[in-house]
Amino acid sequence: MGYGKHVKKILYGGDYNPEQWPEEVWQEDMRMMKKAHINMVTLNVFSWAALQPDEDTYDFAKLDKIMELVRENGLQACMATSTGAHPAWMAKRHPDILRTENNGMKRKFGGRHNSCPNSPSYRKYAPRLAKELVRRYKDYDNIAAWHVSNEFGGECYCENCGKAFREWLKEKYGTIEEVNRCYNTSFWSHTFYDWDEIVLPNFLSEHFDYDGRNVTMFQGISLDYRRFMSDSILECFRLEYDVLKREMPDTPVTTNLMGFYKELDYQKWGKYMDFVSWDSYPMPDNTPAETALNHDLMRGIGGQDSFVLMEQTPSVTNWHPCCRLKRPGVMRLLSYQAAAHGADAVQFFQIRRTVGACEKFHGAVIDHAGREDTRVFREVTQLGEELERLGDVFLDGRTPAETAVLFDWDNWWAVEYSAGPSVRMKYLDAVSDYYTALHSQNIPVDIIGVEEDLDRYKVVFAPLLYMTKEGYDEKLRRFAANGGTLVTTYFSGIVDEHDLVLPGGYPGKLKDILGIWVEEQDALPEGEANAFVYGGEEYPADILCDILHLQGAGCVSTYQKDFYQGTPVITVNTYGKGKAWYVGTRSSRGFYQTFVNDIIREAGIRGVMETPEGVEAAVRETEKGAVLFLLNHNEKEEEVILEKEYRDLLENTACHSQGRMVLPPKGVKLLWTEKQ
Ligand code: GLA
Ligand code: ZN
Repeated sequence: MGYGKHVKKILYGGDYNPEQWPEEVWQEDMRMMKKAHINMVTLNVFSWAALQPDEDTYDFAKLDKIMELVRENGLQACMATSTGAHPAWMAKRHPDILRTENNGMKRKFGGRHNSCPNSPSYRKYAPRLAKELVRRYKDYDNIAAWHVSNEFGGECYCENCGKAFREWLKEKYGTIEEVNRCYNTSFWSHTFYDWDEIVLPNFLSEHFDYDGRNVTMFQGISLDYRRFMSDSILECFRLEYDVLKREMPDTPVTTNLMGFYKELDYQKWGKYMDFVSWDSYPMPDNTPAETALNHDLMRGIGGQDSFVLMEQTPSVTNWHPCCRLKRPGVMRLLSYQAAAHGADAVQFFQIRRTVGACEKFHGAVIDHAGREDTRVFREVTQLGEELERLGDVFLDGRTPAETAVLFDWDNWWAVEYSAGPSVRMKYLDAVSDYYTALHSQNIPVDIIGVEEDLDRYKVVFAPLLYMTKEGYDEKLRRFAANGGTLVTTYFSGIVDEHDLVLPGGYPGKLKDILGIWVEEQDALPEGEANAFVYGGEEYPADILCDILHLQGAGCVSTYQKDFYQGTPVITVNTYGKGKAWYVGTRSSRGFYQTFVNDIIREAGIRGVMETPEGVEAAVRETEKGAVLFLLNHNEKEEEVILEKEYRDLLENTACHSQGRMVLPPKGVKLLWTEKQ
């Protein structure tokens, strides 16, 4: 169930907080929003305290007026349930709602992501508020979607969470003996005889601070706690979801996610959301590939090949260490970049800039000056006018990816909880090594989880696949046997889903697919890289060097120095009709560019288009045709040569095959081809 599909237009707007303003301001807001071609507002995100002054009283008088105002003015509403921050009275009277930190410190009222997900009071009052809201407003036909809470996240270590954790473990393992086996508790005399001996893994138990890193001595339990916490918070989402669906079964329900947010396993969350929405706040120095990677991740998790850009700043955030303005044209460029990677709606945080507390210097469509002759308002208006003109042209468009990069939250947690072989090893870096190379060649990529089917892909990159979950080796075997190309790397195939090593040599169950056996792993300190030659060029072998033996695979490249000089570092194995590559170390951007290009070309995959560096080309295919997005991230004008005839959607002109297309600095083109 998409969003905006039934309204047949790109929804455009953002978080609107009229409750923070006197009513005189509201009419002016409406006037300005219309002027900016805004057709949608996210309402009621943080109003719990105002809506519910005590256990049994609800006060919707102000929200009623706001709902009327919004409807009268022809705006769609993305209706939030306001449960993202609980009221002060509730914290005072029901302290179980307050969270306990990793170090055992029980918090008092304050902040935002402040409710314990296993608090009986939270689980009672949050869905109850959602129910009151949906019952009251269900006849508003301008409610395009429901928005549960806001940016769920964080963690809690209170007694209620401890209790719930033990229940979760019982459900998962059945017997205490199975817990002991999976956690390898015979190590360090940890054997549990009873469930209530198990305590939450935190700074009071298994964790300690090591040079500013939060490390664990027992990976199994720490990993389970992450899964449990993500599940607990997901249950809170689902409690509200169910209440909303009961009253408004046809209205889609979402919550706003945060891209690569480590605490929540969004691939699991995606299954329970009607559509995925997320908040994109790239740092000023993030590369276009980094932003695109987040979009592609978000596009992939709901199984719908699209998402909603629920928030972005029109100009500036307040929480980056140094709050640089988005330069002229950048907000527009990043909005189209989101669309190019699957966004069906473009929303801002926020419509009107607030006057107090920590977000008063966060950008907004309407600034403190309240004027329409500002740079930001002009840019917002221009984009609004363009999106309106584009109509539904790319709505529900699909990304025609034949290449996938595997990303798995459990693996992320496990790799980074691992004590050894190197703290320099970061899962996201390994993923982005391959993704960045693909992105720079305009290859459409899906970021997939372990549950996704591999059949539709020609190439799958599964970097740092440390954890091989039950059955995943079989999936990879089938994929390769049927002609797929698999690429994996150092530190793969080491453990099962309990973080227990698969004995018999690394990379465990992947040995036969890869045709190798890894004997040792040498972690290198910064500045001490080994080297190898690939395609006639020398590249660094850094962070971790797997020392391996061939067991059927061919050697593509060898280490240049040290006691393992001359042993294989890159190997390729023929498996059935396909191939399985192993890259036994981490290398440089230059290497990934060349290597990935070779892999892709050999698999018969082409980029969307050839473009100069810094110019991104991405495509979305709809039932009627395809929209090619050209995005110039550079400060200077760039030029591309068109390979076929297009219609320039923003200029409404025809473009000729072999014609030159000039892209101004930060410029954007949307080029249409009708389906033949
Ligand atoms: C998040 C929140 C918003 C706001 C913005 C500020 O994305 O969802 O409520 O706090 O950050 O950037
Ligand atoms: Zn708790």
